[in-house]
Amino acid sequence: MSEPAHPNHHRDVAAFDLRAAGYENGWRGQLHREITTRTAAPAAREAHASSRILDVGCGTGQLLRLLAATFPTASEVRGLDPAPSMLAVAATHAHDPRLSFDAGDAEKLPIPDGHFDLVVTTTSFDHWSDQAAGLQQCARVLGAGGLLVLVDLPLLLLAPTLLGERRRKARTNSRAGRLLDAAGFSAPVWHDLYTPIIKAVTARLSR
Ligand SMILES: C[S@@+](CC[C@H](N)C(=O)[O-])C[C@H]1O[C@@H](n2cnc3c(N)ncnc32)[C@H](O)[C@@H]1O
Repeated sequence: MSEPAHPNHHRDVAAFDLRAAGYENGWRGQLHREITTRTAAPAAREAHASSRILDVGCGTGQLLRLLAATFPTASEVRGLDPAPSMLAVAATHAHDPRLSFDAGDAEKLPIPDGHFDLVVTTTSFDHWSDQAAGLQQCARVLGAGGLLVLVDLPLLLLAPTLLGERRRKARTNSRAGRLLDAAGFSAPVWHDLYTPIIKAVTARLSR
C-alpha cells in the first residue's frame, strides 16, 4: 500500500475500519445505499459496454455488487480500499465470482496502466489525502476513452468548510474541475445525485 501523504489519512481509514461491521445499517447505511443505487444509473448510461470496472474506496462493496448485476458482460469488477475491515465485510457479501476486493489507496493504485475502462468512486474522494494524485492514478489505470464516475460533495455550499482542517480539499466544482483537467480528463459533466450536497461528475480521458 502507498505511503500516506497526509497525517489525516490514518485517522480517516481507522474511522471506517471501526464502522465497517455496521456500515450498511441504519440511516447512514440507507444513505450510502441510495447514493450507490443512483450512481449505477449514469454509469450504465455512459459506459454500457464496460468490461473491466474498478471502484476506488469501495468500502463494503455495495456499488460493485450493483454494477456486477448492471454489467452482466463485464469480466472484472474490482474494489480497492485501505480499510481492512471494510474489505472483510465486502468479501462476505461478494457472491459473484467476477467481484474481487483488495487493499489499496487512491494515491497509489496497485494496477497496471490502462487496465480498466470504467473507474467509479462514491463518497471516498473527500477522504483521499492527495486528491490530485488520486485522480492522476484513476487516469493512469483507465484505457483510452475510459470513463470516470466520481460521486462526492464538491459544491459551493460547502465553501465555508474550506477554511478548516479540510481547506485543501476539492469541495467545489471548480476545484474538482481543475484537478480533473490536470489529470487528463476532458469536459466533465456534473449531475445532481442526492440532495444538494452530493454531486456526480462523469468525465472521459482526453487521450
Ligand atoms: C464513506 S466510505 C464510502 C464507501 C463506498 N464507496 C460507499 O459508497 O459505500 C469512504 C471509503 O473511502 C475509503 N478511503 C479513505 N481514504 C482513502 C484513500 N486514500 N484511497 C481510497 N479509499 C480511501 C475509506 O476506507 C472508506 O471505505
